[in-house]
Amino acid sequence: MAAAAAALLAFVAVAGALVAQATDPYVFFDWDVSFITASPLGLPQKVIAINKQFPGPVMNLTTNYNVVVNVLNSLDEPLLITWDGIQQRKNCWQDGVLGTTCPIPPGWNWTYNFQVKDQIGSFFYFPPLSLQRAAGGFGGITVNNRAVISVPFDTPDGDITLFIGDWYKKSHTDLRKMLDDGKELGMPDGVLMNGKGPYRYNDSLVPAGIEHETIKVEPGKTYRFRVHNVGISTSLNFRIQNHNLALVETEGSYTMKQNFTNLDIHVGQSYSFLITMDQNASSDYYIVASARFVNESLWTKVTGVAILQYSNSKGKASGPLPDPPNDEYDKTFSMNQARSIRMNVSTGAARPNPQGSFHYGSINVSQVYKLRNEPPVTINGKKRTTLSGISFSPPDTPMRLADLYDKKGVYTLDFPTMPIDGPPVMKTSVINSTYKNFLEIVFQNNDTKVQTYHIDGYAFWVVGMDYGEWTENSRGTYNKWDGVSRCTTQVFPGAWTAVMLSLDSPGFWNVRTENLDTWYLGQETYIRVVDPDGGYNVTEMVAPDNMLYCGLLKDKQKAQKPHGSSSSSSSTAPPNRYWLAVVVSLVAAVFVQ
Ligand SMILES: *[C@@H]1O[C@H](CO)[C@@H](O)[C@H](O)[C@H]1NC(C)=O
Ligand SMILES: *[C@@H]1O[C@H](CO)[C@@H](O)[C@H](O)[C@H]1NC(C)=O
Ligand SMILES: *[C@@H]1O[C@H](CO)[C@@H](O)[C@H](O)[C@H]1NC(C)=O
Ligand SMILES: *[C@@H]1O[C@H](CO)[C@@H](O)[C@H](O)[C@H]1NC(C)=O
Ligand SMILES: *[C@@H]1O[C@H](CO)[C@@H](O)[C@H](O)[C@H]1NC(C)=O
Ligand SMILES: *[C@@H]1O[C@H](CO)[C@@H](O)[C@H](O)[C@H]1NC(C)=O
Ligand SMILES: *[C@@H]1O[C@H](CO)[C@@H](O)[C@H](O)[C@H]1NC(C)=O
Ligand SMILES: *[C@@H]1O[C@H](CO)[C@@H](O)[C@H](O)[C@H]1NC(C)=O
Ligand SMILES: *[C@@H]1O[C@H](CO)[C@@H](O)[C@H](O)[C@H]1NC(C)=O
Ligand SMILES: *[C@@H]1O[C@H](CO)[C@@H](O)[C@H](O)[C@H]1NC(C)=O
Ligand SMILES: *[C@@H]1O[C@H](CO)[C@@H](O)[C@H](O)[C@H]1NC(C)=O
Repeated sequence: MAAAAAALLAFVAVAGALVAQATDPYVFFDWDVSFITASPLGLPQKVIAINKQFPGPVMNLTTNYNVVVNVLNSLDEPLLITWDGIQQRKNCWQDGVLGTTCPIPPGWNWTYNFQVKDQIGSFFYFPPLSLQRAAGGFGGITVNNRAVISVPFDTPDGDITLFIGDWYKKSHTDLRKMLDDGKELGMPDGVLMNGKGPYRYNDSLVPAGIEHETIKVEPGKTYRFRVHNVGISTSLNFRIQNHNLALVETEGSYTMKQNFTNLDIHVGQSYSFLITMDQNASSDYYIVASARFVNESLWTKVTGVAILQYSNSKGKASGPLPDPPNDEYDKTFSMNQARSIRMNVSTGAARPNPQGSFHYGSINVSQVYKLRNEPPVTINGKKRTTLSGISFSPPDTPMRLADLYDKKGVYTLDFPTMPIDGPPVMKTSVINSTYKNFLEIVFQNNDTKVQTYHIDGYAFWVVGMDYGEWTENSRGTYNKWDGVSRCTTQVFPGAWTAVMLSLDSPGFWNVRTENLDTWYLGQETYIRVVDPDGGYNVTEMVAPDNMLYCGLLKDKQKAQKPHGSSSSSSSTAPPNRYWLAVVVSLVAAVFVQ
């Protein structure tokens, strides 16, 4: 089945390339996003599936592929899909967040069209609106190296994607209502691995009748595990009984290969590990993801357990799970682990030149922003979260679209460079920046929980993190040589993390916490990157033909008939290659079945 799907993809890619203008191959995906019923923790719930799969399919791509995804919204609420870590270079139109794109109304479809330009690595996609990720809708994006680029390790014998994440038995609509009512979500009901509940490692902790994930492997072989924390707000410690995790990649950059027995993976982060099946298979082995920085005797159920099964396994896994780090009184363990991850500067990633030849540490910084979060506040009687005292109010009209049509008053360009004292406010305030600026952003976490921050459109260098308040003197501790380049970084409570990024792609780019509850309540902003020399259609791509309109521009939108109808009245005709792909996938779908 998987092989047939891969063959189909290859065929579609070749077929697409024949009619496409560009020389880079095209791949096509046809997705129906709908609710299905699943019982990951024993209780039937509505989860978001893609083509009836939960989690969604892994998009297996190669550097520079053009990707066309027709997304049909079969949910009963507006939908977007965002491509976490995909840089959408000069093309924020395809980013799939409210600042750039109108949501796809229920019953409508919309086709994304983007290129994974100059990227490699492990990323994931998910539905970013209204807490939908808490119901699923996520899946992997694997960007392989082109054949001409060498990779700093031997080709693994297999490639395994693992989604880990906390999970509630409540629906995302109930969770949303709790947040709207100013309540906390409280302790999650469990941790899922690839959409499945825990293996029954302990009869009193795990009830009978829960399906778990089993990863089947061959003894002696080495596999690349791509592990993504797609959860809501819980940092997870990942480990595999008796097996070393050799870390090799963080969201698109190769790291100095390093063995870990366990690694903390925060919400929204992705890592690749090479894992060698070097044990004697006297039994199966536990794969564990357990909640971090919580009272573990209260949070025992917030533990994901899957099974690693050798083909010559002599029996079931039994006994206690491998121990989590014992660092209750050592708040530096996790931070030191993060700091020990270094980029391999003598290897290239997407391009042949070694990464070290680009010395980020010697570029002059053109703008510094310190973004400070705080525990939730009350604004106009509502519980909200803030960055630098501002709780972001998402615009009805995507900001990039408002600029294109010269609609004023949708947002303000006054996001403060330093946190200001004063009462918190709700507004649509964004960072004003310029094409080719080099930014230093310091995230200061004044809350009591770990937050992870993500910037769309870019990878940034993580140059430093420490406890306490960041000051100018903190720059003395920066790693200016081999900091990792990635798109999502953790910021420990009472601590700061500093990142640097080169704004080489005009557009509006979302800066957000990946923790869903905090994000939902307003902890985000955007960076507006403008090319003063008139970048539209030069340094920035033009708006796509199939643009959706909403808000102040809703009159420009022609109605789409609900799906299933062949006579769509959408304003643009699909390109020929789209139809070719549809025909090919229909033929192949019959074939596969
Ligand atoms: C993904 O694509 C690569 C390159 O085309 C191929 O070698 C690999 O087998 C594919 N993996 C899967 C799981 O289909
Ligand atoms: C770094 O990359 C080089 C070049 O690909 C490779 O030979 C080396 O093993 C890598 N080093 C580590 C520690 O991963
Ligand atoms: C199962 O978990 C309970 C509660 O943590 C513990 O008391 C008990 O010893 C565990 N049982 C086994 C067989 O490990
Ligand atoms: C990492 O673990 C592997 C076994 O999984 C071992 O062969 C290798 O020597 C270890 N490397 C280091 C640096 O400890
Ligand atoms: C297999 O490995 C385990 C863990 O290292 C060890 O306890 C056990 O004695 C080994 N069994 C055999 C048959 O070698
Ligand atoms: C963790 O929870 C247990 C059970 O309620 C409690 O006895 C213990 O004091 C708590 N530990 C800490 C460090 O708060
Ligand atoms: C950075 O700024 C310093 C001082 O203003 C200047 O001397 C230097 O040439 C600049 N470096 C670059 C790479 O622009
Ligand atoms: C935004 O930045 C540009 C370039 O620094 C500047 O010219 C412009 O006045 C700024 N706009 C606002 C509203 O601050
Ligand atoms: C938050 O900021 C206040 C005021 O500066 C400070 O007293 C407090 O220690 C900070 N808390 C954390 C967790 O950083
Ligand atoms: C973009 O530039 C191309 C080539 O100059 C031109 O054909 C096209 O009409 C332009 N599109 C827009 C929307 O300006
Ligand atoms: C999706 O969009 C295309 C292009 O707008 C349209 O032709 C097609 O009929 C739509 N419907 C479905 C179910 O994909």
